[in-house]
Amino acid sequence: MQQRATGNYRNDTLVLGFSDLDRLRHERPLVLSAGRGVFVMDERGRDYIEAVSSFYCVALGYSEEELIEAAMRQMRALPMYPSGAHRTVPVVLELADKLAALAPIPNARVAFATTGSEANDNLIKFMWYGNGHTGRKQRRKIISRTGSYHGSTILTSGLGGSAALRDSFGLPLEDHIHVSQPAWPMAAEPGETEAGYTERLARELRDAIEAAGPDTIGAMIAEPMSVSAGMLPPPAGYFAAIKAVLDDYGIALFADEVVTGFGRTGNMWGSQTYGITPDCITSAKGLSSAYQPISAILMSPEFHDRMVEGSKADGWLAHSGTYHAHPVAAAVALKTIEIFERRDIVGHVRRIIPAWRAALDSLTDHPLVSGIRQSGLAGAVTLRRPGDTGTNAPSMKPGGLGRAAYDAGIEHGILTRPIGESLVMAPPLIITEPEITELTRRLRAALDDTLANAPRD
Ligand SMILES: Cc1ncc(COP(=O)(O)O)c(C=O)c1O
Repeated sequence: MQQRATGNYRNDTLVLGFSDLDRLRHERPLVLSAGRGVFVMDERGRDYIEAVSSFYCVALGYSEEELIEAAMRQMRALPMYPSGAHRTVPVVLELADKLAALAPIPNARVAFATTGSEANDNLIKFMWYGNGHTGRKQRRKIISRTGSYHGSTILTSGLGGSAALRDSFGLPLEDHIHVSQPAWPMAAEPGETEAGYTERLARELRDAIEAAGPDTIGAMIAEPMSVSAGMLPPPAGYFAAIKAVLDDYGIALFADEVVTGFGRTGNMWGSQTYGITPDCITSAKGLSSAYQPISAILMSPEFHDRMVEGSKADGWLAHSGTYHAHPVAAAVALKTIEIFERRDIVGHVRRIIPAWRAALDSLTDHPLVSGIRQSGLAGAVTLRRPGDTGTNAPSMKPGGLGRAAYDAGIEHGILTRPIGESLVMAPPLIITEPEITELTRRLRAALDDTLANAPRD
């Protein structure tokens, strides 16, 4: 969609990630300048339902005054003081306690960073540190699943699964092992049951561990529900099966809850929804409703003990960041948690899920829709041209039809995310039933246009 320039800016100065740089040379990006509840407004005043909460992050919508006030209060009290070098600020201590109490890890310890990518990156660095000082130095390798997204740093880009994220940048670095992304039922073999599929993936994991050398592997990282691979809930029994394999070899499980944390799946943590017992969790996005950049690493006491051994040996943990646990971000995160509890945001998500599910189901009669996936307040609509066959297995790369439907959505005032031939959605958690109805109306209109304009073979 072509936008007219309305502000006093050039179009081609800004380099935007996850964008077609060539297209950006002649086409103005969508420029959003205001927000209210689940809506954002562009520079021409047109409104859009943000059906993906931006990058799955603005949990409390775009106009939460309490978060703004919390930021202002902290700005006035002490706008900045880094947490590190034996110094911190009260709000960071309070946030660490609060997160530890919320974490599905008993007696969790908490470290902060700035982004989700950094949290995953730092967690792996911490693992190497702790292992290096406790006789497990060779345990460096990390297992991840193809098609996942765990961030954009050099280390975390390599964990992802698509050529665009990884190979195009000369990644991964060494130490990465990739196993299959569960995609039930799309990736099942003919006649395979869900239990059989789960067993096959557990076998594949065991084989990959044996091939790589069990004593060289430190951890496996996985999203409880794979959002970035196209909103794929795990098949039944998946995490119990892979955890059993990992336990056999003393390999830790890291849950990347950057998206699934903070209520998205109908519990505070995706690990609770899917019965996962992780050793460590990373959290970001919803943690501050993304009003401020902050991320957290929640770790088991045993994991932390290994880091303490490292610190004893070196005299300190030689790692910090100026903006880690920025006080304004910490104040906003603390207020976010308070709002979650006071307004029972997770309860609201649970109550709204049936309406969300019904809205997705109502789209299955559309000729372009080949299926839907839903977990918690998230979902994906898979698209297929009438008459096409095929599995429609999701991939990270924007596909033709997904991209066309996304563009049509912009025309009809709805922002989704195209992943392969799917449109992925995860609206702000505060969405109401009438807003879900309006979202569905706009999406259907976009699908109608996409169908009308789809090239026929
Ligand atoms: C599952 C997952 N992990 C990590 C990240 C990286 O977070 P950030 O963009 O804050 O670096 C993302 C971002 O979308 C994500 O979806």
